[in-house]
Amino acid sequence: MILPIYLYGQPVLRKETEDIDKNYPGLNQLIENMFHTMDHAEGIGLAAPQVGLPIRLFVVDGTLLKEDMPDMIEGRHVFINPEIVEESDEKVSYEEGCLSVPGVHEKVSRPAEITITYFDENWEKHTDHFTGFFARMLQHEYDHLEGHVFTDHISSIRRQMISLKLNKISKGKASCAYKTK
Ligand code: NI
Repeated sequence: MILPIYLYGQPVLRKETEDIDKNYPGLNQLIENMFHTMDHAEGIGLAAPQVGLPIRLFVVDGTLLKEDMPDMIEGRHVFINPEIVEESDEKVSYEEGCLSVPGVHEKVSRPAEITITYFDENWEKHTDHFTGFFARMLQHEYDHLEGHVFTDHISSIRRQMISLKLNKISKGKASCAYKTK
């Protein structure tokens, strides 16, 4: 099922999120729906707050980027109750976009490498180290669980420059090829 994607300005994107457990109702279906929603919108990552749920869960699939980024980790990956436990001092700047902020692309500086603990969809616990654009994707989605969107990280001058666009999105006046809320 395709779920509506909550856009910039919706309070749920700024809410504190909670860990979930194995008994979270309909979890497998929710994960399936999130992948379906993300694929339909041609996204590479989607966090639960973006479908209106303030819980610590996000999904990513960088397969679409594999051609341009040979070191991309392919396939579907589910991150439940993630915690970034380490990040490199070295930072990298690269352009990002977000399904909740349609039509906006801005360079964001982020740590080049991270170590993250999380549970996968089978409730296996992992501690993994990631680099490259995959590490950036995870940090972008992780931000959603912390009540942040990528435009929070840009300079106030840049934010000023896109403020009209952001206002338009907040007022529900952005045009979008996918279902939004
Ligand atoms: Ni996003």
